[in-house]
Amino acid sequence: MKLAVSSSEQPLTSITTDLLTLGVFDDYREDRRVTDLDAALGGVLLRAADEEQFKAKKLSSFALHSHGKLPAARILLVGLGARKDFSAPDLRLVGARAARTAATTSARSVTVAPPTGTDASPDALARFSAEGILLGRYRFDKYLSEDRRQRDKLESASIVAPGASNAALTRAEHTAAAIARTRDLVNEPAAAATPTRLAEFAGEMAREHGLELKVLGRAECTALGMGMFVAVAQGSPQEPRFIHVTYKPKKPNGKRVALIGKGVTFDSGGLSLKPSPGMEDMKTDMTGAATVLSTIAALADLESPFEVHAIAACTENMIGGGAYKLGDVLRSMNGKTVEINNTDAEGRLTLGDALTYALGLKPDEMFDFATLTGACVVALGPHIAGVMTNNQPLADAWLKAARSAGEDMWQLPLPERLKEQLKSEVADMKNTGERYGGAMTAGLFLKEFVGDVPWVHIDLAGPSATTKEWGHLSVGGTGFAVATIIEHLV
Ligand code: BES
Ligand code: MN
Ligand code: ZN
Repeated sequence: MKLAVSSSEQPLTSITTDLLTLGVFDDYREDRRVTDLDAALGGVLLRAADEEQFKAKKLSSFALHSHGKLPAARILLVGLGARKDFSAPDLRLVGARAARTAATTSARSVTVAPPTGTDASPDALARFSAEGILLGRYRFDKYLSEDRRQRDKLESASIVAPGASNAALTRAEHTAAAIARTRDLVNEPAAAATPTRLAEFAGEMAREHGLELKVLGRAECTALGMGMFVAVAQGSPQEPRFIHVTYKPKKPNGKRVALIGKGVTFDSGGLSLKPSPGMEDMKTDMTGAATVLSTIAALADLESPFEVHAIAACTENMIGGGAYKLGDVLRSMNGKTVEINNTDAEGRLTLGDALTYALGLKPDEMFDFATLTGACVVALGPHIAGVMTNNQPLADAWLKAARSAGEDMWQLPLPERLKEQLKSEVADMKNTGERYGGAMTAGLFLKEFVGDVPWVHIDLAGPSATTKEWGHLSVGGTGFAVATIIEHLV
């Protein structure tokens, strides 16, 4: 599909397109663009919108065929709610609705007109509208028979954003592509997205985007002393893969960043076996790995000035005769010993060794992305990620990037007192605390492995996947955090 910004001041009444989509606020009756279209249509636009009680609430929309009275075949109004509540990332909802309507109406071309008179920059208007179109087109239908595939016929999309640059579209394209890659990996069954397959994927990324790649197997990780990661992997016949991708900028500005992703390709819980309903979606437990491996390619394409390392310790967490056991004492790569009191708290073990490995790269900043705890979903609900840190200025910068990218994140504290829950009689610590405060005890456990390096932990157990289509999100993996990483590092 060809994507363009039309920066001309051409009135919407003269635009030729199959689907003319307008983002509108609840005062849309006073919106000049709407009243001009309504006049050209002899007053039926506003009358029909009234009859259908279209109030321009967020996520609502209203479509009308123009019956040849306009060069645009169809008009689609997409609600943005109240003007005072607007933020540019809301335009993803407009773009996505345009793409979904284009699919059901077999449109070949679509034009999206973001609202006028807001304080959003032309680039932001263009970027988020384009991201919405591209993400709204996303389908994971490779396992469906032909008759259930609903592919659109879009050949071109254009965004009315006078003054917007092509760079804004390029940014949107690379962001949407990284999100789609993440979603694809997350949506694959665990039998397909194995640690070995993730390493192959990393290899493809490295080749296509000019990145360095290092992949370590079981023996090499054992030799490096990754006792926690290797223990989690020992219950599975699937070979673990420790993946390290490096991007070195042509014009480095000196900052080195490590992005670490949890890569548990299936989490059965191990001997602390999950009940079936809790296990059902555990193919998504490698979201963090998918996120960092997909995003580093976009960072390279968008020429981030930072040296970036994407690191993912990938393994299954399975039961079996060889599985690690409760009461086992593991020696981590940084020398600390850990008594296992729950094999389902496996993510922090794999991440602990990955963080230690990352420290060896002497990064200036580290971020880890992990579907780490159900407790974080209890605390913040399914749509908001938990953010924890040892460095408030870095967390502030990260949360600011999240706001600009339109992703919901909220900081949780790392209260020292909770650490008493991790006390062990036989080892330096246990891997699991009590039920209450579970997101933070997991964060405190990780903090033992980051030394003094500024670090932000993002628990995305909630927003990593969705059971309902919503705006630009489709059922399954969401690609959450990709846009914020790009915002922070480009
Ligand atoms: N992968 C899970 C966390 C999870 C739960 C992600 C729900 C997505 C949705 C993680 O490995 C886990 O099992 N955590 C345990 C920790 C507990 C044993 C301390 C949990 O949250 O129950
Ligand atoms: Mn688990
Ligand atoms: Zn897990």
